[in-house]
Amino acid sequence: MTNAQADVATSAEVALMSENEELATQLAKSFEELSFLRRLASTLVIDRVAVENEPFAELLNELCEVVCASSLYLFHGAIDDDRCGFVSAGDHSMPFALARALVLAYRSDAAQRPFVLNKPVEGFPVESLILIKINSGRDHGWLLACNHADQHAAAELGFSSVEANLLLSAASMMASHYRNLELLRQKEHLFTDMVRALVNAVDARDPYTCGHSERVAMYARRLAEHIGLSQADCERLYLTGLLHDVGKIAVPDAVLRKCGKLSEVEFNAIAQHPRIGYRMLLPVNALRPVLPGVLHHHESVDGTGYPDCLAGEEIPFDARILAICDAYDAMTSDRPYRQGMPHDRAIQILANGAGTQWDRELTERFLECADHIRRIGEQYVDQLALSREIVVEQPCDDYAPMRQFS
Ligand SMILES: [Fe+2]
Repeated sequence: MTNAQADVATSAEVALMSENEELATQLAKSFEELSFLRRLASTLVIDRVAVENEPFAELLNELCEVVCASSLYLFHGAIDDDRCGFVSAGDHSMPFALARALVLAYRSDAAQRPFVLNKPVEGFPVESLILIKINSGRDHGWLLACNHADQHAAAELGFSSVEANLLLSAASMMASHYRNLELLRQKEHLFTDMVRALVNAVDARDPYTCGHSERVAMYARRLAEHIGLSQADCERLYLTGLLHDVGKIAVPDAVLRKCGKLSEVEFNAIAQHPRIGYRMLLPVNALRPVLPGVLHHHESVDGTGYPDCLAGEEIPFDARILAICDAYDAMTSDRPYRQGMPHDRAIQILANGAGTQWDRELTERFLECADHIRRIGEQYVDQLALSREIVVEQPCDDYAPMRQFS
């Protein structure tokens, strides 16, 4: 082999090695991108209490690195709205208002496909950018990557279709996630509306207790919040409050609407409502969590309640909460045979019955937030009065002993 041939061979080897290195780098980069997309997919778990941007807050930093951007911005919701969701990663060189102004400036260019710009943008600390719409047939927001983090690449080329396509893949996954959250929310609203329709059908049978279930639900949720329960627990207690008297649907009108003292037979008929409600809701899987509260909301901690004469902590926690809220609303709301008693008097009765009729500790917690609960009740009654005029017959200052079936 001549020297010239050896030189050619050497330079071919060098070129091959360089090509191999480039290929290895590209493979490593592709692997990194695929790994990221896989992590993104596994992170997007639909949770009923998921916060809109929460799953992306951490991943955005990683995505920012993978696409070699100095900063990355995620907008969720209508970009025209000042209150749209916003998460940023990287050097955070632009505050919300400035980054949003940049999206507004280029959104028409990015309406159909990723928009890549590799030149300085006047008025913004930006030398290059990628803008992508997060869309699943509906607009969910925008992804904005700014300034290539690799100074050499930035000077040479800036952003390319490689980074834009990766961002597009991430945006597609985010769009699916947001769409799924929307569908979940619609399903939950439909469910709550159906429950409310059922409860309204029960409450409408006795116009004088109209709104009782919803007020009890609101009080129970407020008390749960005050105690510091999780959002899921608070919502379960709200739902339980809505449904606690649903079994009254099977109680005859003559008994349900009777103003005078109930006979033993009538009382026994109405005392069936917790068990009837329990049986009605039992086949509905989604309502299983409310069953203990529905069945036992008339138990008393001294064991004198019904249907099972449970005592103390034998009574399910939700039922002990419901019993307090139920009693407070029964005492303070107007009935045809009496006017609702003043808030302070009802509070006093609850305090006196703590430890005998109602759970001592939970009653104390109720009393701590009683002012807020009173406001909730007053606002509710004000709203109700707007839609119908309530006439209280035979107003009376004396408190008729609370009927156990309220
Ligand atoms: Fe009840």
